[in-house]
Amino acid sequence: MSRSARTLPSTLRIHALARHLTHHNLAIPLASPLAIPAAAIPSSAHAYSTNAGAGAGVAPTSYAALTYKQFGNPTDVLRLVQVPLPPLTSSTVHVRFLASPINPADINQIQGAYPIKPTFNDTFGAIGGNEGVAEVIAAGSDIKGLKVGDWVIPEDSGFGTWRTHARFTEAELIKLPKEGVSKIAAATISVNPCTAYRMLKDFVDLKPGDVVIQNGANSGVGQAVIQLAKAWGFKTVNVVRDRPNIDDLRAHLTSLGADLVITEQDLRTPETAAKIKALAATSNDDGDYKKGGGSVKLAFNCVGGQSATNLVRLLGHDAHLVTYGAMSRTPLTFPTSPFIFKNLSCHGFWMARWNARHDNSLRERMLVDLCGMIAKGQLREVRWGKVGFAKGVGKEEESRLLAAVGKAGEGFAGEKKVFVM
Ligand SMILES: NC(=O)c1ccc[n+]([C@@H]2O[C@H](COP(=O)([O-])OP(=O)(O)OC[C@H]3O[C@@H](n4cnc5c(N)ncnc54)[C@H](OP(=O)(O)O)[C@@H]3O)[C@@H](O)[C@H]2O)c1
Repeated sequence: MSRSARTLPSTLRIHALARHLTHHNLAIPLASPLAIPAAAIPSSAHAYSTNAGAGAGVAPTSYAALTYKQFGNPTDVLRLVQVPLPPLTSSTVHVRFLASPINPADINQIQGAYPIKPTFNDTFGAIGGNEGVAEVIAAGSDIKGLKVGDWVIPEDSGFGTWRTHARFTEAELIKLPKEGVSKIAAATISVNPCTAYRMLKDFVDLKPGDVVIQNGANSGVGQAVIQLAKAWGFKTVNVVRDRPNIDDLRAHLTSLGADLVITEQDLRTPETAAKIKALAATSNDDGDYKKGGGSVKLAFNCVGGQSATNLVRLLGHDAHLVTYGAMSRTPLTFPTSPFIFKNLSCHGFWMARWNARHDNSLRERMLVDLCGMIAKGQLREVRWGKVGFAKGVGKEEESRLLAAVGKAGEGFAGEKKVFVM
């Protein structure tokens, strides 16, 4: 399939895979007064004079962004700076970011520990963040598939979403349906729900009634797994770390559709094994090939280490374990006996790799599906906490945003932190 811009029959348009963009803008030191000439907007641009909502009407000339010039601890290397917005051209759009989450991968990327490395330019370096939703506020005259007011997400990782504004080409964006989709749901759709969607569909041909087990069940991915599984008729066993307010977490995950919520400590008790067996009894699987009983067919591992080992012990014959996260930063160890005698399969999954290796139409179908599920109330917003993004730059604002990034990288956060612009 051509990767150039095209019109699709669906509400969603998927465009080319944009490679990590380099901006040749000048960063303005915090102490400097802003002295940027107004951006020249070509007369051909249909922009800034429409009534497309907040943000439209005035051509911005610069934007605030959380940037870094070298890898390191985010709270050490991130800087809040004002960056000139490149002028609109006939083949570009200007967007205003609405919301952008702080994901674990964003932290890893700034630390230099993520496979996708940003391109550092000579002035401000790179902009943090990989996910977020923006509103088109101006479109050049050659732009055919986007208009002012549309909601868009970056087509690729690495663009830098912790900023208020940006200039994109059409091919660097995916347009999202807006109806019934909140800006938080849109800002967090492309990583976690897509990962949950693919992992539930691509490894085992699950049938309604089948049982999936996962650790890190309160993560953004885990919350999406619970809800998609519920909507598709699968049962979930959800493992979380114990905490003082465990009842609140249990109630939250149950309200999303979790069938069983257990702590890491409970994972190896006979009571838990019995509960899981009972849950799987109605499974379509005859996984225990000798006894003909139901069993757990699929496991998702967000944590690694002992937690993953314990998940493996609960799997049935011919089951699959998919590892997508490594939150404990400890390696995987598989018990040999079930690995051999139950014919277990282990896989890794990375959404960015899947996106790069699959036809755009598949991604389009997935995003349309997910937006439909959001609109129907089957997929709720991740539990999130608002961090107001900087309205301007200054040391106080910088410290506030850096503190939020630092907190987001800690365990037991309780919610995903989302910058709201
Ligand atoms: N492979 C992919 O394509 C892909 C896609 C999306 C996400 N991921 C990965 O999946 C993981 C979760 O991402 P997310 O965005 O869903 O995260 P999130 O919403 O920020 O949640 C973080 C999760 O990690 C748990 N956690 C934090 N520190 C931990 C530790 N030391 N030991 C065990 N658990 C710990 C948290 O549980 P507590 O409440 O107990 O702290 C929570 O469940 C990350 O590793 C991320 O990089 C991978």
